[in-house]
Amino acid sequence: MKAIELTGLEGFESLRVVEADKPKPGPNQVLIEVKAAGINFAELELTKGKYPALKPLPYIFGFEAAGIVVELGSQVKGVNVGDSVAAIVSSGGYADYATADAGSLIPVPKGISFAEASSIPVQGLSAYALLKFAAKPRSHETVLVQAAAGGVGLYLVQLAKIMGARQVIALASSRQKLDLVKNLGADTAVDYSEKTWPDQVRAATGGKGVDVVLEAASGEVGDESFKLVAPFGRVVFFGARNIHDTISSEKIQQLIYKNQTLIGFNVPTLGAEKIAECVPELLKLISQGRIKLFANTTFPLVEVKKAFEAVSNRQTIGKVVLTP
Ligand SMILES: NC(=O)c1ccc[n+]([C@@H]2O[C@H](COP(=O)([O-])OP(=O)(O)OC[C@H]3O[C@@H](n4cnc5c(N)ncnc54)[C@H](OP(=O)(O)O)[C@@H]3O)[C@@H](O)[C@H]2O)c1
Repeated sequence: MKAIELTGLEGFESLRVVEADKPKPGPNQVLIEVKAAGINFAELELTKGKYPALKPLPYIFGFEAAGIVVELGSQVKGVNVGDSVAAIVSSGGYADYATADAGSLIPVPKGISFAEASSIPVQGLSAYALLKFAAKPRSHETVLVQAAAGGVGLYLVQLAKIMGARQVIALASSRQKLDLVKNLGADTAVDYSEKTWPDQVRAATGGKGVDVVLEAASGEVGDESFKLVAPFGRVVFFGARNIHDTISSEKIQQLIYKNQTLIGFNVPTLGAEKIAECVPELLKLISQGRIKLFANTTFPLVEVKKAFEAVSNRQTIGKVVLTP
């Protein structure tokens, strides 16, 4: 089969198209014929060595995939050959075939394409779990979403409203992205490539500031977002970019004086039980059409470098997908 291997940690240039053996499912696993492999921002960071390598190099890359079950491990029950599923995979999703634990399969909801479904295992469930277990927006609160037109961002904008926030302020860097997040229910969309963006956010809250910052940007955007937090507000950290630059003694001082809270969130260490709680709740919202999925940017598997280039250059909106 065709697959994409990560061969080094020099960025996405280290990704190579290879011929590999089809993986074999273990007793509690299934084999999936991949129809769509989702790209995640963390994978770009992984290619640069910013996260610890998942396995010894080289290995077949890709956290997740959506496709059709074509083989069952000897102990698997409750799954059938032919089922349409999405999953965090065990063997690498950027490939014609991938294995996944049978217990972690997410059924593809009716009317949802494989490309759209590939956004559910990582981006959709991360956004849902982040709001449910960490941010917990309340009915009088304003939530600030950075990179709101990204994969996680589009879910956060929609879910924050559904899960109770009074006001969602979405940050993005182009007219097209701003229009989309507004259409999806953001009360205010602000272009954070403009110098005055913090003033625009403050004005949208009547000068009060925001109650919750969903923080993945760090750098200047992270610093300015922090200053926008209202008294008794909170910042949920979920991106791992340049964390060492993000928390300064001035910020700790602000937290103390303004009675604010810092919260960390990481979906891979959240635990299977909490994720399992989120799956039916999120799938219900998707099936009801209350959450719209966006996966219009697809690249053939063999053009993986072009796909990563587009992500790197901030040219993409929503889920970015590789199709074998
Ligand atoms: N903690 C967790 O469990 C968890 C789980 C999933 C994801 N995450 C984190 O959530 C964040 C979003 O992930 P994602 O997969 O949704 O990302 P994505 O779809 O690739 O979205 C990336 C968006 O980020 C913005 N951006 C800002 N600075 C950028 C830069 N230097 N390079 C490229 N894009 C930049 C761009 O939008 P603009 O042009 O509008 O700025 C871009 O559209 C990442 O930091 C990821 O690590 C964390």
